[in-house]
Amino acid sequence: MKTIGVLTSGGDAPGMNAAIRAVTRTGIYNNIRIMGIKQGYNGLIDGNIYEMNLSSVADIIHRGGTMLRTARSDEFTTEAGREKAMTVLKVFRIDGLVVIGGDGSLKGARELSKLGFPTIGIPGTIDNDLGYTDFTIGFDTTINTVIDAISKIRDTSTSHGRANIIEVMGRHCGDIALNAGLAGGAESIIVPEEGFNVEEVCKRLIQGKNRGKLHSIILLAEGIGNAYELGDEIQKYTGIETRVTILGHLQRGGSPTAFDRIIASKMGAKAVQLLIEGKTSRALGIKGNKIFDIDIDEALSIKREFDTDTYQLTKILSI
Ligand code: F6P
Repeated sequence: MKTIGVLTSGGDAPGMNAAIRAVTRTGIYNNIRIMGIKQGYNGLIDGNIYEMNLSSVADIIHRGGTMLRTARSDEFTTEAGREKAMTVLKVFRIDGLVVIGGDGSLKGARELSKLGFPTIGIPGTIDNDLGYTDFTIGFDTTINTVIDAISKIRDTSTSHGRANIIEVMGRHCGDIALNAGLAGGAESIIVPEEGFNVEEVCKRLIQGKNRGKLHSIILLAEGIGNAYELGDEIQKYTGIETRVTILGHLQRGGSPTAFDRIIASKMGAKAVQLLIEGKTSRALGIKGNKIFDIDIDEALSIKREFDTDTYQLTKILSI
């Protein structure tokens, strides 16, 4: 293993830079050349590749986003695109690749492994939607961003006696809403895994109002309903004035938390170690505070189980 390439792909996530730094520095420490591949699989296909040195990754551990930039590549999903990528890897004499990204990015890594190219996947997505790992890089930062937003919105919610709907990201996974809702003390949490019933949401609001509660936070995961329509319905049924905030891409930026920096650093280093040991087609994860590796195919076949116990707890704690 003389040369390792590293790329970030899909939606960016805070902590990706810490992972790039760990790959680069662990590689150089082991006398391996590190090639940074810009803009995900698109950059791989186009040969947008440059050699990294120790200074290339200086002053990035605390920054959100990804210094290698990222993309969602349509071309790489085609056989022709992947063949081009294989040629580019050969031209740049890259012997192994580290891919940092979510579900789609790890699927791409799996495809390269199938073509015989040594590839390791690192889970980087704010969604926390990969079933094989307890946490993905970026998720912790995002839920901290969301609880910060909840606290601020709660101030104005209390002042006006309103119900505030906050829509958060997560694609098809309710983990951001669930965990930020628990930590932020949301009155109702609406996630795709559980569905929802407007009457129940309204009942909770009225119960709260009757016992003198002034604020109400309803955390809504994206894709399960229209936040504005829900707001109108709630206002109509309860008579409580409602406001909507869609947090959007605010949740994807910001300085990564200590937790995200730590797991990203450990995973980045381990990815290089695995390639040095001749391993391929592995995905990294964390369970019980231990970083582990697992066959990528197996990792991607594990469906994420929604944490119903935590969901029930949020209902109890918000009565
Ligand atoms: O996968 C991360 C994520 O932020 C999802 O939560 C969201 O649905 C999606 O990406 C948004 O993608 P884009 O930035 O391409 O609009």
